[in-house]
Amino acid sequence: MENKQKIVLTGDRPTGKLHLGHFVGSIQNRVKLQGKVDKSFYMVADIQALTSNADNPTKVRENVLEVVLDNLACGLDPNKTTMFIQSEIPEIAELTVLFLNLVTLARLKRNPTVKDEMKDKGYGEDVPAGFLMHPVSQAADILFCHSNIVPVGEDQKPMIEQTNEIVDDFNRFYGETFSHVKHLVGDTPRLIGIDGNSKMGKSLNNAIYLSDSYEEISKKVMNMYTDPNHIHVNDPGKVEGNVVFTYLDIFDPNKEEITELKKQYKKGGLGDVVIKKRLIEVLEKLVAPIRTKREELAKDKDAVMKILEKGTMHAREIAKETMKQVRMRVQIDYF
Ligand code: TRP
Repeated sequence: MENKQKIVLTGDRPTGKLHLGHFVGSIQNRVKLQGKVDKSFYMVADIQALTSNADNPTKVRENVLEVVLDNLACGLDPNKTTMFIQSEIPEIAELTVLFLNLVTLARLKRNPTVKDEMKDKGYGEDVPAGFLMHPVSQAADILFCHSNIVPVGEDQKPMIEQTNEIVDDFNRFYGETFSHVKHLVGDTPRLIGIDGNSKMGKSLNNAIYLSDSYEEISKKVMNMYTDPNHIHVNDPGKVEGNVVFTYLDIFDPNKEEITELKKQYKKGGLGDVVIKKRLIEVLEKLVAPIRTKREELAKDKDAVMKILEKGTMHAREIAKETMKQVRMRVQIDYF
């Protein structure tokens, strides 16, 4: 079906609270786009979370609320964005089953996101089948509502590529039905961890959370990796690979002062504590309003669940329409 509308969809796995990496990689774009496009969806990807947490449903269940609170606190507005729960849309599962026929096992094993995560989780050959095929269910997440813009972190790019391959095959086999999808990465597509690791992640234990207190932020920044050879204040220091400066470059709005501080640091005479204290204040300024709003919203969990219930009902209607059309195209519309 020709689809000229701009439809945004994105989501999070409910496996933990969200962090600054999510914020700069995707959440900022979600908030910016809502209301400016024709439709906007936010999905809690609980089924996807279960693909690597089959033995821990409680963890997934408990984190549904956490990721929604994080998004609401950052400014996602349920009046502009349909917020829903993946598992409550059975049509996504139906669509996944049909899409699975369009994808080979070899292709899934080559998906860089899958490869990276399989390594992180130490699966080897014993990877749960559901985990291996989660890019296919992610294609269904995106396509059930004919979404064509997906704001995600850089790590999710291969998922969008695979979605577009599914779109091509589906349209070729069954007639023009879905449109290509574009991913949209934030200004900082990949935020390094506070330990200097190339990626910030909850499982890597190197994240600053959107719900962290001032004390937590301070502790984490004070422990940040700088330049191991910058021992005395007067030693010349390195700015490249220095996590504190990397963060200041991203989060400090005063670029001129940062340029000046870098010069001083390189020359010698600027202590780590000075730049760390500056970063603490910069991050606190960003996180404090999010944290406050989050605490406020968390007082009425029923209201948050109501938002999800309402959004889910709306998403379900759309999903039913799409499945009707898909069943017709695949010639499984019998009665
Ligand atoms: N894989 C995404 C993540 O880990 C979550 C997700 C599931 C998603 N379905 C999606 C993101 C559809 C964008 C579109 O963060």
